[in-house]
Amino acid sequence: MTSNDAAAARDLPQFETTSNPILAAPGEPLVIVENVEKHYGDFHALKNINLTVNKGEVVVVIGPSGSGKSTLCRTINRLETITSGEIRIDGKELPSEGKTLAALRADVGMVFQSFNLFAHMSVLRNITLGPTKVRGRAKAEAEAEARALLDRVGVLEQADKMPAQLSGGQQQRVAIARALAMKPKVMLFDEPTSALDPEMINEVLDVMVKLASEGMTMIVVTHEMGFARRAADRVVFMADGEIVEEATPHEFFTNPKSDRAKDFLSKLLTN
Ligand SMILES: Nc1ncnc2c1ncn2[C@@H]1O[C@H](COP(=O)(O)OP(=O)(O)OP(=O)(O)O)[C@@H](O)[C@H]1O
Ligand SMILES: [Mg+2]
Repeated sequence: MTSNDAAAARDLPQFETTSNPILAAPGEPLVIVENVEKHYGDFHALKNINLTVNKGEVVVVIGPSGSGKSTLCRTINRLETITSGEIRIDGKELPSEGKTLAALRADVGMVFQSFNLFAHMSVLRNITLGPTKVRGRAKAEAEAEARALLDRVGVLEQADKMPAQLSGGQQQRVAIARALAMKPKVMLFDEPTSALDPEMINEVLDVMVKLASEGMTMIVVTHEMGFARRAADRVVFMADGEIVEEATPHEFFTNPKSDRAKDFLSKLLTN
């Protein structure tokens, strides 16, 4: 948490969050996490996690460092196995390995804090790789779609450059385009702006807000409270591996129920 977060939050338009439908549920359940437990050896990282994300819903996950936010994202994408419980994406349980896993994992787009672009490939190739190799798309078609996606995130003119030639904000927008190229059903973002210089944070958040408004189902781990207020249907607050509280952004920011959340929010405001 930095003062930049607070500054960015102030700079964003503060939309009237009370007009959000209560725990907006525009669609059917898309991601269902049920009684999930995760241990790393003796360490209990996720404790009885239950979370349902509906189609088109934007859920922001916040909480102190070490509370299990990244672990939750990684288990939803099966980058991490679970000890017990069940995770279903669009009605299908995620297997722990194999071909079905590869197919189902492609339904979940993931954007990390570090941009994770393939350094030795052009921006365009970064985006067409998945669709041509995993989805079996023809090269020309994949390239046309990749250009359309780059245009959508505002970096079309960077298509033929190498990742290192782009700014952090541009790279992160390419990473978003790359995830979208797989036509995921849900997008997971794990602190997508934390590694960015302050002046680049909003260009990435703007792309995410646009995605949200277009109806993408999103789970977003972020400390950007401005984004949560602006785009989230629901805030999930985690502490010590548990979901402690779930509420609309308006409810959560104006009237947090738990002491943990009150404490967390007070630190955010004073930092
Ligand atoms: N591979 C691992 N082996 C052992 N412990 C791990 C592993 N990955 C995470 N943990 C532990 O699990 C807990 C949750 O980690 P996680 O990365 O999910 O937290 P987080 O909420 O994302 O924190 P941050 O805000 O710092 O990113 C931490 O205590 C961490 O040390
Ligand atoms: Mg994390």
